Amino acid sequence: MGSHILAIDQGTTSSRALVFDAAMNVVGQGQKEFAQHFPQSGWVEHDPEDIWESVDYAIRTALKRAGLSADDVAAIGITNQRETTLVWDRKSGKPIYRAIVWQDRRTASICNQLKSAGKEALVTEKTGLLLDPYFSATKVKWLLDNVEGARAKAQAGDLAFGTVDTYLIWRLTDGAVHATDATNAGRTLLFDIEKGEWDDQLLALFDIPASMLPDVRDCDGDFGQTDASILGRAIPIRGVAGDQHAAVIGQACFAPGMIKSTYGTGCFAVLNTGDTLVRSQNRLLTTIAYRMGGKTIYALEGSIFVAGAAVQWLRDGLKIIGKASDSGRLAMAADPKQNIYLVPAFVGLGAPYWDAEARGAMFGLTRNTGPEEFARAALEAVCYQTADLLDAMQKDWTGHGAATVLRVDGGMVQSDYTMQFLADILDAPVDRPHMLETTVLGAAWLAGQAIGLWPGQDEFARSWAREHQFVPEMDSAVREEKLAGWRDAVSRTLSGR
Ligand code: G3P
Repeated sequence: MGSHILAIDQGTTSSRALVFDAAMNVVGQGQKEFAQHFPQSGWVEHDPEDIWESVDYAIRTALKRAGLSADDVAAIGITNQRETTLVWDRKSGKPIYRAIVWQDRRTASICNQLKSAGKEALVTEKTGLLLDPYFSATKVKWLLDNVEGARAKAQAGDLAFGTVDTYLIWRLTDGAVHATDATNAGRTLLFDIEKGEWDDQLLALFDIPASMLPDVRDCDGDFGQTDASILGRAIPIRGVAGDQHAAVIGQACFAPGMIKSTYGTGCFAVLNTGDTLVRSQNRLLTTIAYRMGGKTIYALEGSIFVAGAAVQWLRDGLKIIGKASDSGRLAMAADPKQNIYLVPAFVGLGAPYWDAEARGAMFGLTRNTGPEEFARAALEAVCYQTADLLDAMQKDWTGHGAATVLRVDGGMVQSDYTMQFLADILDAPVDRPHMLETTVLGAAWLAGQAIGLWPGQDEFARSWAREHQFVPEMDSAVREEKLAGWRDAVSRTLSGR
């Protein structure tokens, strides 16, 4: 058996694989971007074969760059974009349609109908989530209702449903294992997070046959072994968690009150609430932080759909930057006297507004507004949205204790400009760790400790190291003025107006 851990991070825009040695150092990595399909306004799809091929490429590249082979890998951990929905034929293994991505809004009308029928309270009570197209259940329903012959096949038990983790496990084990972990299950709208099981009432509500569902396991459970035909030998899959949950783990946010905020395609702030299932009064999600050894740890989550995607828009849509890392430099050159706000509701607004029909808007444009101000508005929008989330979190968490730390990760946090503005607008310190690959580290740790190769929770938490703390410097009157401008911009963007 080898002494390395292979961790796969299947994200929204690219697939990555990292190889870690026994001392938890990264020794090789591979990455591949893949196509995004936007067949209609608000629709977002991925080709399942692109997902698989990019993962396969990333694994092979990571091993090659590390100078290792599959023989050197002791276990695999998987983390993934959550909620994205796949349905495939159990016999042929062929997906019946493209993957419907978490950002996809096509099921807004299904959600609205269920809301009008008064069903949201039941859904929230059981799942901690809201009736929003973001989650998987309405996407499965759409597939069964719109792909010819799908419902009959599902009723005959011939179709399997999975989020991306489940699909990858299925592919890696060549169809031997149809399983997910509790964190991914908890994002489907079909899983009772208090009981820790699929819920018949919700399955009936969304008209989804139970036979489609994967088996739900602990994050550090046994997910079978890779089929020898894939990497040349069977390797155990011993860690699985949705990417935001893996980041909680990778940031060692194991104690109640600790918050991590990850800036990937979207931004997701997660507050560990320990074994207390806190029901949000402020439109946040209650979710499973992780489940290990049969014990569930809960969290409050704020989900923003567009963070790094706004920088991608500057690069690929507006073409005002050549690469993402240019955005901070451009923003710093912006005219400080212009108050430009971007509300990046490209696919609606997530927490705490949950407005699927809203679309993006800019405010305050003048003849002097140029690329610099656009860049600054895009970066600042991410920080304002984080402020909305943390404000809601603090309200929900009052009475339970104080939020203790905010640890950040993801591509955007490399920008000092953005992180300083974040600390300023939050009026709170922001901790950036040395290890920025926290999501993939979380998945690797689940697998590494599951097989006894890596340290347990306490020792792992002690290995977390801060690279920089951003401390608020902004005058409070300026902060209040900026936040008021943001709130006004959002209120003018909401679809009800
Ligand atoms: O809920 C969606 C989330 O898991 C996607 O994460 O990193 O691909 O933006 P990311």
